[in-house]
This record gives sequence, C-alpha cells and structure tokens, in this order.
Amino acid sequence: MMLYSDKVMEHFANPRNVGEIEDADGIGEVGNAKCGDIMKMYIKVNDGCISDVKFRTFGCGAAVATSSMATEMIKGKSISDALKLTNKAVVEALDGLPDSKLHCSVLAEQAMKSAISDYYKRNGVDPEPIVGKIEE
Ligand code: FES
Repeated sequence: MMLYSDKVMEHFANPRNVGEIEDADGIGEVGNAKCGDIMKMYIKVNDGCISDVKFRTFGCGAAVATSSMATEMIKGKSISDALKLTNKAVVEALDGLPDSKLHCSVLAEQAMKSAISDYYKRNGVDPEPIVGKIEE
C-alpha cells in the first residue's frame, strides 16, 4: 500500500513558510474544485525576484507538503523562473505522491500564479499574457 514518501511526511510535519505577509506585494487565493480545499499565498517582490513567500491552507496533508516545497523552490527566484515551476516538478522534489493526491499539488502552483497575477495587476500590468489564465 503506497503511503507518503519521507519527504512528504517531513514537509507535512514541519511545513516551511507558513503564515501571512502583512505588506505583501501580491496575494493569491485559489480553491481545489475536486475537494473544495483552499489555499492562499502571499509574495514579496524585490527587483523582479520573489524575496519572500508564505502560505495558508485549508487543505490536506499533501496540499501542505506541496505548498511547503513549492515555496522553498520559488523563494529568491525571479518571477519568470518561478512561473516555470510546475506541480509535477514539486511532486518530483517530494519523491512523488499517490495518484489520488496529485490534484492537491495543483493548488500550490495555482496559488503562486494567482499571487503573481495579483502583483502584476497592482502594478497596472495585464497578467494574462505573462501568467496565463488562473482558475480561482
Ligand atoms: Fe483537497 Fe488535497 S484533498 S487539497
């Protein structure tokens, strides 16, 4: 019976970057259509780089672990590099997820894109050509 990898368990038990950023430059909130769970992500942007990122979720353990890993992978990266991060890469970095939990990893990717969209909107830039369409 496939359970969670050690990395998933470790990020679930000790999630990185949990919380809120009061003066965030972008905030994204998305829901998972499959289960109804929600995820909120906050980013700080300096010189085109994501200098800080935090998240809060009403999601399952897999959502917590993937968000924790995703925030670790985008922190300090340029926005364009962060946008290249896929949920597949996050799942690989966690040594996999059970198939039935793969949809949970989409929440982190979508929340990050939504936060970046919000950042562009606040700066008077249409995010859609850069970030693509976000399902909220
Ligand atoms: Fe909802 Fe995992 S079951 S995010």
